Amino acid sequence: MANFKFTKADNTRINDVDWSNLGFGVYFSDHMYVAEYKNESWNDGEIVPYGPLPMEPGMCTLHYGQSIFEGLKAFSSIRGGVNIFRPDMNAKRLNHSGSRVCIPPFDIKTLIEAMIELVKVDIDWVPQQRGTSLYIRPVVFGSSSFLGVHVSSDYTLVIMTSPVASYYPEGLNPLKIMVASEYVRAVRGGLGSAKTAANYAASLLAGKEAKEKGFSQVLWLDAVTRSFVDEVGAMNIMFVIDDELITPPLEQGTILAGVTRDSVLAIARGWGLNVSERPVEIDELFTANEKGTLNEVFGTGTAAVISPVGELSYKGRTIVINGGKIGSIAQKMYDTITGIQYGELEDTYGWNLHIDV
Ligand SMILES: Cc1ncc(COP(=O)(O)O)c(C=O)c1O
Repeated sequence: MANFKFTKADNTRINDVDWSNLGFGVYFSDHMYVAEYKNESWNDGEIVPYGPLPMEPGMCTLHYGQSIFEGLKAFSSIRGGVNIFRPDMNAKRLNHSGSRVCIPPFDIKTLIEAMIELVKVDIDWVPQQRGTSLYIRPVVFGSSSFLGVHVSSDYTLVIMTSPVASYYPEGLNPLKIMVASEYVRAVRGGLGSAKTAANYAASLLAGKEAKEKGFSQVLWLDAVTRSFVDEVGAMNIMFVIDDELITPPLEQGTILAGVTRDSVLAIARGWGLNVSERPVEIDELFTANEKGTLNEVFGTGTAAVISPVGELSYKGRTIVINGGKIGSIAQKMYDTITGIQYGELEDTYGWNLHIDV
């Protein structure tokens, strides 16, 4: 094994896994990678058995939320071995998120090596069935203990892995989404472009209320005018109006720069589709729906890949998209991205980091 110190778990928990019913984020593999930042530098980190971390009640992150994370996947390739999808993008985004909440950057090469070694150590945890994968979750948090609002001096980085199936119980079946009219998630100048705990905390109540009303997720509007579409709780959002594929732009800094978003846009441009990254008013969607030109709505994200939206509800008005069925672009996009990830299609973009096992 590479350079990392490795302590093997005494016992494996792999036999506790219900492989035919993985769900999402339920099981954790046998090992994790842990690195510590002290005296202004990161140590080399080591791979140890997955388990509890030492923590004092005064640990600042519990109080002030100085925490960032990432999510990416390793796929069992039909050509043998495992493909990690675009880990460089997630590694860079982790450091971007860190810069917004004063967490010191971690070396990108070391982070990717740690992910590779962790996947190799727990290679038996990479599920084999189509639609499943090994989710990789790096998280970094301030680990000093103190009271008072200021940055931590010490940090811990952990990478854990989890065998997963689909994120939504609906799978590829279209979701019902509620447009948030009461709450907002991220403001201009705020934390929206960072994958930091606070954004998710801000979304929980609206998500809970939407679930109670029978919706799977919330679609957030911009926090200033509350008229432009931002993104969904754990996905970016795309619309097909006439022949234009539209997604909200990144410039305002209120949405996450999704790796799947970037991949979908590249593939769509490669197909010659008319692609726009531009502001989309919620009213534009309802008007297009009335005209019959709102052809498709779908979310994009690592966890859910492509998630068609069958119903959008806003202030009591509900529209049904494409008869509540998955649209042709969403389906073709899903087939193309997952085809690349599982090694069924040629990886012309060079997105897979292939691990021979
Ligand atoms: C708020 C939010 N937006 C968008 C995404 C999609 O990003 P990605 O495609 O990199 O998973 C995610 C998932 O990480 C998310 O949490």
